[in-house]
Amino acid sequence: MESQKAKTVEQYQQYVMPTYAPQLLLVKGQGTWVWDETGKKYLDFGAGISVSNLGHCHPAVVDAIRRQSEILIHTSNLFMNEVQPKLAEKLAKCGYDAVSFFANSGAEANEGLIKFARKWGSEQGKYEIIAMEDSFHGRTLATLAATGRSKYRKGFAPDMPGFKHVKFGDFDALKAAITPQTAAILLEPVQGEGGIIPATQEYLEQVRALCDEKGVLLLFDEVQCGTGRIGTFFAFQSYGVVPDGLSMAKAIGNGFPLGVLMVKKQYAQTLTVGTHASTFGGTPLACAAGCAVVDTIINDGLLENCRIQGEYLTSRLQALGKTFPCIQAVRSKGLMVGVVMDRPAGPLLPILNDLGMIALTAGETVLRLLPPLNVTREECDIAVSLIEKALSKWQSDNK
Ligand SMILES: Cc1ncc(COP(=O)(O)O)c(C=O)c1O
Repeated sequence: MESQKAKTVEQYQQYVMPTYAPQLLLVKGQGTWVWDETGKKYLDFGAGISVSNLGHCHPAVVDAIRRQSEILIHTSNLFMNEVQPKLAEKLAKCGYDAVSFFANSGAEANEGLIKFARKWGSEQGKYEIIAMEDSFHGRTLATLAATGRSKYRKGFAPDMPGFKHVKFGDFDALKAAITPQTAAILLEPVQGEGGIIPATQEYLEQVRALCDEKGVLLLFDEVQCGTGRIGTFFAFQSYGVVPDGLSMAKAIGNGFPLGVLMVKKQYAQTLTVGTHASTFGGTPLACAAGCAVVDTIINDGLLENCRIQGEYLTSRLQALGKTFPCIQAVRSKGLMVGVVMDRPAGPLLPILNDLGMIALTAGETVLRLLPPLNVTREECDIAVSLIEKALSKWQSDNK
């Protein structure tokens, strides 16, 4: 009889565009663990690429979605619903005096942020956005143009105009790139896809001062590093440098599609009636999931756990670096952890899968670990021992 996996693989081949090449078939998730169709269990330190920050199927999220789905799923934004402003208020009360526009993904939230900057700059003839090399902002045409890795743009020319890139962390290059047409500087406080690269405190402070001096907006893409991932609810809070606008997505719905762009209250009248819209953005159902996520992160002390486990995991991985010369460095902030290798990290992933663990890569040479914010010390120990086994196998295979 045809196996469940063979049937699924065949359906993918016949009916799904081959934009991904997944190998594992996952059928169930609970907390930090997922299972494949054979019943094999994996420790999930990828969290669906920083999405399941509360772990898989967290009861608060499941409950919120279940209850809201029985009351009202969708209205469109032509009507008010009670849940959307409730989530906007919760987000503001997490420490950002801002208003929200809800979208469905990171790219869409960033598109909104880019439109916000252009609209704000339009009366002064400002439209240009300066973004960072090695950044990642999404796969739509505007967010691709903002993305600092040209490989993602290959085949999709012409690029949308109005974007330029400077080296992340190079303040002089950024200063030199500003022109009278510059509307905004867009950056990830911690670059994710680029290789887990945290901005320095000094750099972000300098960039904020430069924006103030030149009358340019500072925009943070917190799609990956926000929603508690680096130990504060908003990533900017880890630095105390407040942006004029930011985007979040991924973990804000813990797997239910939800994105948001937030702009400081003083810019609340930039995008007004008719200037931006989304049919699905901010449905009662998505926002119910979002409310459950915010409440759980704050009420369950997950920010503190994130900081504690992040430090613990980092120190254990650094210790591993003493035994494995292929580890060049460990870069981390909260539970955004990158193990920098001396060679491409991709081949490590299937070895880890065989051992019962899921991880990710970032850039070419970085093993990226993004466990849920409620990960336990015991789970971090299991992860380190599986990585140790994987590295031993990798080294012996490469002898
Ligand atoms: C920093 C950052 N911005 C934007 C995106 C795009 O998000 P989405 O895939 O939800 O469109 C990602 C996705 O990895 C990201 O890491």
